[in-house]
Amino acid sequence: MKALVLAGGSGTRLRPITHTRAKQLVPVANKPVLFYGLESIRNAGITEVGLVVGDTAPAIEEAVGDGSAFGLQVTYLRQEAPLGLAHAVRIARGYLGDEPFVMYLGDNFLVGGITELVRSFDPAVHDALVLLTPVPDPEMFGVAEVRAGRVVRLVEKPAEPPSDLALVGVYLFSSAVHEAAAEIKPSWRGELEITDAIQWLIDRGRPVASTTVEGYWKDTGDVESILEVNGRLLDRRGDETAVHGDVDAVSELTGGVRVAAGARIRRSRIAGPVDIAAGTLIEDCSIGPWTSIGEGCRLRGSGLRRSIVLAHASIAGAHGIESSLIGHCAEIASDGDRGAPRRTLVLGDHSKVRI
Ligand code: G1P
Repeated sequence: MKALVLAGGSGTRLRPITHTRAKQLVPVANKPVLFYGLESIRNAGITEVGLVVGDTAPAIEEAVGDGSAFGLQVTYLRQEAPLGLAHAVRIARGYLGDEPFVMYLGDNFLVGGITELVRSFDPAVHDALVLLTPVPDPEMFGVAEVRAGRVVRLVEKPAEPPSDLALVGVYLFSSAVHEAAAEIKPSWRGELEITDAIQWLIDRGRPVASTTVEGYWKDTGDVESILEVNGRLLDRRGDETAVHGDVDAVSELTGGVRVAAGARIRRSRIAGPVDIAAGTLIEDCSIGPWTSIGEGCRLRGSGLRRSIVLAHASIAGAHGIESSLIGHCAEIASDGDRGAPRRTLVLGDHSKVRI
């Protein structure tokens, strides 16, 4: 079996971060979200991956390379424009041949991996296996109508959802999906929807199975979801503190703090779970919980919680930062007022703000 991983798309709900960065490379717990998916694929015993890339191809290629760091052989497939998930299947036709495959959306985060799922799919019995999970906002997703355990209808982002069961961005297919992807027409949003391709199979009486996701799943397409996944991942690490960097005697670290080698912490309070990457300097700060700080950042006299700071950002004298996503090399400066009100910021790479 091969894997088809989708890392194109424009990430409009994550602007301004995605003006300069692929949404699949936004880090959670200091690792790009895409890497978790690639690891799940490898853990399921799949080694051949077709990686569909768009405008952000150079950044994705730089991060993933030939895949050998993940134990994978990655082939890049260029999608000239974000024309939909079934369009990605169309362009991957030659790469996939007649093999069954797992399609994995690179911004989806699935705790528990896909090993069982891959094992349970038999292309001789089913042409597709979809994953479903109940969500409070089904109109934001592809939605399934299931009757007597069978998927009878799938609709993409319906105004009036027939159920609360969203399609998770991981699908298993036999080669029958290629005919479906070739036949369907673009949806109202101008995309060739994978949802419509699966409906095409259902309409022709082809066997489509479904299963419900047991563990935690999130589409990390917006800031709130990214922060939620970041917090979950940090929580899962437990209360153990692991200091590989340099922490002075007056700093106080509690509950699940990771400090990478080369990071320095001075006169600060860090309340875990928190992850601090290499080369970062933190002085006179109050950080956490649920916060990840990337490599080479400088934080001075600031306070932040439930936030993600990308590499090489600097924050000085800014308190009350919460539920924020701070871009690569962004600079925040403020007057050091500890009683500052809560502030939520979403800053693109290289932004400069004074608050
Ligand atoms: C896509 C699919 C949708 C699915 C979702 C899962 O939506 O079209 O059916 O529920 O991924 O993440 P998109 O991210 O293209 O809006």
